[in-house]
Amino acid sequence: MDKFVIQGGTPLTGSIATSGSKNSALPALAAALLTDEPVVLRRIPRVRDIRTMERLLVDIGSEITVDEEAVTLRTEKIVSPEAPYELVKTMRASSLVLGPLVARAGRARVSMPGGCAIGARPIDFHLSGLRHLGAEIFQEHGYIEAVAPNGLKGANIVFDRITVTGTEDILMAAVLAEGETVITNAAREPEVVDLAEMLTKMGAKIEGAGTSVIRVQGVSKLHGVTHEIIADRIEAGTFVVAGAITGGDLTITDCVADHLGALITKLNQAGMKVTARDATTIEVKSGGTLLPVDMTTEEYPGFATDLQAQYMALMTQADGISIITETIFENRFMHAQELMRMGANIRLDGRRAIVAGRSRLSGAGVIASDLRASASLVLAALVAKGETVIDRVYHIDRGYEKIEAKLAGVGAKILRVE
Ligand code: EPZ
Repeated sequence: MDKFVIQGGTPLTGSIATSGSKNSALPALAAALLTDEPVVLRRIPRVRDIRTMERLLVDIGSEITVDEEAVTLRTEKIVSPEAPYELVKTMRASSLVLGPLVARAGRARVSMPGGCAIGARPIDFHLSGLRHLGAEIFQEHGYIEAVAPNGLKGANIVFDRITVTGTEDILMAAVLAEGETVITNAAREPEVVDLAEMLTKMGAKIEGAGTSVIRVQGVSKLHGVTHEIIADRIEAGTFVVAGAITGGDLTITDCVADHLGALITKLNQAGMKVTARDATTIEVKSGGTLLPVDMTTEEYPGFATDLQAQYMALMTQADGISIITETIFENRFMHAQELMRMGANIRLDGRRAIVAGRSRLSGAGVIASDLRASASLVLAALVAKGETVIDRVYHIDRGYEKIEAKLAGVGAKILRVE
């Protein structure tokens, strides 16, 4: 298992380019199942979760070619509408093939995702949505069987709570359902909007993506498409925090500044100087003393849960007490223990973490857990005194493309050790 060896203390200066969004690429890849024509996707990040999804699609029946420029997929026939446990257990986003398979092939057999480090993460909302569209759902031997031999029929679907991949799954089923589907309490994340744009270019009829009510008029067939994935707002946000925590002067390019409004506002409240130089460029200058500012995670456009761990690492350097509240997942504070091993002063109280800064962090041997918790350990290591060794960096490789090369490019002393 690869490790990162990081020497802390160097302010990051220079410019880092953002890759395509993993969480937009995953539904876009699944959406290729909805047509038998070629689908060309540009700016797909070469990260582990993407390779897992590509393997799953090949098993299902897609022909995939990957080159520098794009990923080209063609699914002339669904050979096996299944997502096996071996793949689903490594990536719960495999449930994104549920909607497309039921819509295209009339059936799907997908392993239950099982929990993951950050929580139980059921897919009950995905399943109730498919039921409303006319699919029959069975559960046995740890698998979900969904069948709709007579096709799907449009319906009114109201999500009990906002779900990003639930919205994406149901959207991909509804575009080929007969008649109108209205999705209420839909997720408003930019990745949902990106998927809707791709589906619309394939011939789907969708209104309201990006709002909490999405209307779909079903069509009988979708055609091929060439689509470029949006920038990864979580990767970009992670680098914004990297600039802030190291007291550097960092420019993040090729991102969508509008997607990071909540983070930019919060960091400026904390005394940083974070500005959008233009629509695709964010500049971070440390403003001197870092102030403690409370933060609560919320669905988009609120402060992203995927940036909570990174923000906690930053707040260990603030002068005073800050309270971080995680409202999306029930167990997303694993990074707190590891940060404490580096010298942070954090008290966990259910959904709240009370961070008492400023702590002088010192390098230590730490272990990565979930993707974003691992990113927060990298950030802490960049500011810690001495050497930090982060084990199990495959967690980071799931969602960050060449992170050590990108950070080294702006002065970080970081090495990947096989
Ligand atoms: C997506 O996960 C992202 N993954 C996550 O990013 C992100 O943290 C999350 O949205 C929240 O923004 C992808 O897009 C591939 P949810 P998703 O359904 O869709 C509960 C990363 O680091 N829920 O919006 O799985 C769920 O347990 C990953 O890139 C149900 O109870 O999240 C959670 O508490 C981590 N039943 C809440 O809703 C369901 O059927 C929101 O989950 C579905 C969800």
